[in-house]
Amino acid sequence: MAGLRLGPDDSELSQQSRAAPADLISDDDRSVAADSWSIKSDYGSTLDDDQRHADAAEALSAANLRAPSDYSSDKEEPDAEGVTSMLGLQSYWDAAYADELANFREHGHTGEVWFGADVMEVVTSWTKNLCIDISQGRMPNHVDNIKSDPVEQGDKYLSDWSVLDIGTGNGLLLQELSKQGFSDLTGTDYSEGAVDLARSLAARVGLPNIHFLVDDVLDTKLGRQFQLVVDKGTLDAIGLHPDGSIKRVMYWDSVSRLVAPGGVLVITSCNSTKDELVQEVESFNQRSVTQEHDETSKDKFQYLSHVRTYPTFMFGGSVGSRVATVAFLRN
Ligand SMILES: C[S@@+](CC[C@H](N)C(=O)[O-])C[C@H]1O[C@@H](n2cnc3c(N)ncnc32)[C@H](O)[C@@H]1O
Repeated sequence: MAGLRLGPDDSELSQQSRAAPADLISDDDRSVAADSWSIKSDYGSTLDDDQRHADAAEALSAANLRAPSDYSSDKEEPDAEGVTSMLGLQSYWDAAYADELANFREHGHTGEVWFGADVMEVVTSWTKNLCIDISQGRMPNHVDNIKSDPVEQGDKYLSDWSVLDIGTGNGLLLQELSKQGFSDLTGTDYSEGAVDLARSLAARVGLPNIHFLVDDVLDTKLGRQFQLVVDKGTLDAIGLHPDGSIKRVMYWDSVSRLVAPGGVLVITSCNSTKDELVQEVESFNQRSVTQEHDETSKDKFQYLSHVRTYPTFMFGGSVGSRVATVAFLRN
């Protein structure tokens, strides 16, 4: 959850952070783990919002407390000491999407809408307006807000924006972006079940032109760049892997190659605040300068804007919102 933290001395934290080996995960465990990590749709969730706030903060604090170990593959079982959350493991997602595919086939269910339908609506309409503004030469900056009203006739610009959704899950975000007027749409996920589900759901609503591919964003095989890259909940999941800190570094390296120069990255997170995402990008920029041994090279990413319309609330004396959506320009 954006903006909230539990203290590092919370004794229950280390208990909570111990997950079962992935092949021992039951359906109930999976549902509890998902609830304990984030705010998601009403579908399958029985906890009230306050409980989910607290649980998400616990999962995040657990992630932050653990020092990075040597990098290990996603396919490995978590070690007894270092488990952060099942949601960082591919085995978790493979099992989750096997269930969701079965639910789709038997009952026609679409599966989770992570962070809820309201957030998805805000993200897609805000992103559309951002892209139209950029196409028309109105670059937002740290101070300006993005206009919330659609720009007249702006839709014609959207066909210039190739879109990649990384960790697309059921692909509903791309369906929404399609409704907003984007037409060159690709979704990737490292879980084959997610890609099967996303394809089936898109075909069901008559959107077979959305391309879905199996691809691990940390080891991407995509041979092209995109004007707009969106991520809703994927960096969060990656950060919850036992080697989350290392994987987050890999994430920025990879994503910087996927966003075309002049393109935009829009990240929606429930585990990092807007300021934390901006800070993470600044660290990545600094690392890149050091690696390239070129003090004069431009920052790879530059903060553009963020959604300011999410409801905020007070918790432990801090003001926070449940999710943060931040846009970065690829220089
Ligand atoms: C919280 S879900 C969000 C799904 C979707 N973006 C949405 O908003 O509904 C995280 C997604 O990221 C995917 N994922 C996690 N790590 C990934 C990686 N390294 N490469 C590709 N997909 C990944 C998972 O399979 C899962 O579908």
